[in-house]
Amino acid sequence: MKIITEIAEMKEFSRNFKKSEKKISFVPTMGKLHKGHVRLIESAKRYGETIVSIFINPLQFGRGEDFDKYPKDIEGDEKILLDLDVPVLFYPESNIVKNTDTFIVNPEYSKKLEGLFRSSHFQGVLTIVMKLFCVVEPDFAFFGLKDYQQYVLIKKMAEDFFLNVKIIPVETVREESGIAMSSRNIYLDGAGKEAASAFYKILSSTADLFKKGEKSPEKLTGFAVKELIKNGFKVDYVEITDPALNRKYQNTEKGDIILAAIRYKEVRLIDNVFLI
Ligand code: PAF
Repeated sequence: MKIITEIAEMKEFSRNFKKSEKKISFVPTMGKLHKGHVRLIESAKRYGETIVSIFINPLQFGRGEDFDKYPKDIEGDEKILLDLDVPVLFYPESNIVKNTDTFIVNPEYSKKLEGLFRSSHFQGVLTIVMKLFCVVEPDFAFFGLKDYQQYVLIKKMAEDFFLNVKIIPVETVREESGIAMSSRNIYLDGAGKEAASAFYKILSSTADLFKKGEKSPEKLTGFAVKELIKNGFKVDYVEITDPALNRKYQNTEKGDIILAAIRYKEVRLIDNVFLI
């Protein structure tokens, strides 16, 4: 596996690669790879030569968030990438974000959902993803649906800027207990993991209520909030909206999505379930 740390080298690699007929599939990550990333990489490999990036992006962490203690395991990550036969790891140095004066913002979408609780988060995400796209120049880029709002915002950014990259969503991978895979799950102790498994179950039960005929968004979200609180969680939000994240509290329809963020002690978890 080729490990590239320099921006200029990565650009040159991609430029040369593009002279061939092959496509570049790109999986941006912050490392501490887990089965969710493996699914992203496996999907990417079906579309083209796969480049995985690992970079813990300081721009997307707010004050008081976990930037300093964000889990790292570059050796473990390299092993996973080698096992998956990934040809290129882009592991940029921090100069990829140093002295940045220009940021990508979507003011409308950063006001909702996660944006209400993490005000500069999406600006940081969109800015690093745009930078990575400019360096890697992928034809396809893969994002997990666990971070649904992130996926929607990146897709919108690619459309708004006519980028030559197709954004491909990849399904959430869950632990047997239902917990969505996340690098931050290591913050959960045994009791935390057990508690957190109720999160997905409650969202799924809410989706079941919809299936049985309950269409009122207030009743559905009200049920979810009540159950979450009963299970000891602090609820940041539970919302039902359309897949483009535009509609709020009118009615619910098949294809809508329930998005939620909760806190268990110090650990913040997000998840979502589609209404089918
Ligand atoms: O989803 C993530 O891991 C990050 O937000 C991303 C897309 C790699 C940008 O830093």
